[in-house]
Amino acid sequence: MKKRVVELFAGVGGFRVGLEKASEDFEFVWANQWEPSRKSQDAFNCYISHYGESEMHSNEDIESVDKSSIPRHDLLVGGFPCQDYSVARTKAEGIHGKKGVLWWSIYETIEQHEPPFVLLENVDRLLKSPSKQRGRDFGVMLACMDRLGYSVEWRIINAAEYGFPQKRRRTFIFAYKNDTEYAKDLRGKTLEEIVIKEGFFQQEFKASRKDGSDRIGEIEFESEDIPSLSESFKFQFWSSGVMRNGCVYTEELIPFPGDIEFKLLKDVLEKDVPEKYYLNGELDDWEYMKGSKRIERTHKEGHKYTFSEGAIAFPDPTSRPARTMLTSEFSKNRSTHIIKDPQTGRLRKLTPMECERLNGFPDDWTNTGMSERFRYFCMGNALVVGLVEKMGRQIANLK
Ligand SMILES: C[S@@+](CC[C@H](N)C(=O)[O-])C[C@H]1O[C@@H](n2cnc3c(N)ncnc32)[C@H](O)[C@@H]1O
Repeated sequence: MKKRVVELFAGVGGFRVGLEKASEDFEFVWANQWEPSRKSQDAFNCYISHYGESEMHSNEDIESVDKSSIPRHDLLVGGFPCQDYSVARTKAEGIHGKKGVLWWSIYETIEQHEPPFVLLENVDRLLKSPSKQRGRDFGVMLACMDRLGYSVEWRIINAAEYGFPQKRRRTFIFAYKNDTEYAKDLRGKTLEEIVIKEGFFQQEFKASRKDGSDRIGEIEFESEDIPSLSESFKFQFWSSGVMRNGCVYTEELIPFPGDIEFKLLKDVLEKDVPEKYYLNGELDDWEYMKGSKRIERTHKEGHKYTFSEGAIAFPDPTSRPARTMLTSEFSKNRSTHIIKDPQTGRLRKLTPMECERLNGFPDDWTNTGMSERFRYFCMGNALVVGLVEKMGRQIANLK
């Protein structure tokens, strides 16, 4: 049965690439992508160069979109930033988060359309934010979903631990309406059983328990009064968990991918790479940037402090998965990958196509007229398509 999909924060379409690989039953009915404070909308242009210019593809600030104008859908997907999700108490009815915080656009879309399934992606830090009130932001998010009649499962997944060629740790959140067949099938299971055996992530991303682990937690909350939950909620969420009817079970699980093929950085490398990607007499700069250091600095309020950082392998070993790609991959900075090209034995940067391969996009996906700088930037923002593909195979069969 077809599932109509809406993609928010679409970027260059990572969710769409992954879901369309998983099944022909996903029918994209609307997508939105808007790069704040940039005149040229390169990611959106890339999206429409693959999927066509149409009124179904919106290039507006999602905050200004009337959510009732978004078509009805069965699955809402999106990768959105980790921001401050605190909720202020106001005299008006309803809950009001801060302007500019994109979670609230997702919330409004769900409230308006009540899609049976929601799949979201965020950084791993989401579960711990903010540092002064650990877990509050995710707690607010769970309470919002509970209020809207959803159960939520989550899992922090490092793509490299499931065979992909990049260490990219992200929180994936799968939510489903409590009246779906999927939710009904799980009704007889305990929350613990869902996390360790029966749940969504455990099917495609096998993970095991650690004997005697104390990294387990349970909590119950009321989602009636989200402003007061936002004021006081503090909780340690672990890498796996579930929330149903305001009850949470969470546990740190250890990835157990089984007997699968592991891809490495060397598996994505191009041959005959043009000269412009090679380092050119600036070795000392790179060695310094990548090396460990302790530097005395002066704080803007006047006091002195020591800034220190450890060494990063230089060059990056190609016999391992790559480190996480950041949006700054283009520029000369400590986290930019530098490899020893196996063909020439010389040091060089990764090419934009190699970066696309690290996320599992088709070759030249972003070669749609944007600058090279932006091609790297888009990949630093994107997700590992193969993870979504695995999730999509499951969602396609859910009712
Ligand atoms: C983490 S990225 C998602 C990338 C995407 N999953 C992909 O595969 O390319 C978040 C995206 O949200 C977009 N964005 C940020 N603020 C936005 C807003 N106010 N309205 C719409 N899109 C926004 C950014 O431009 C960025 O492309």
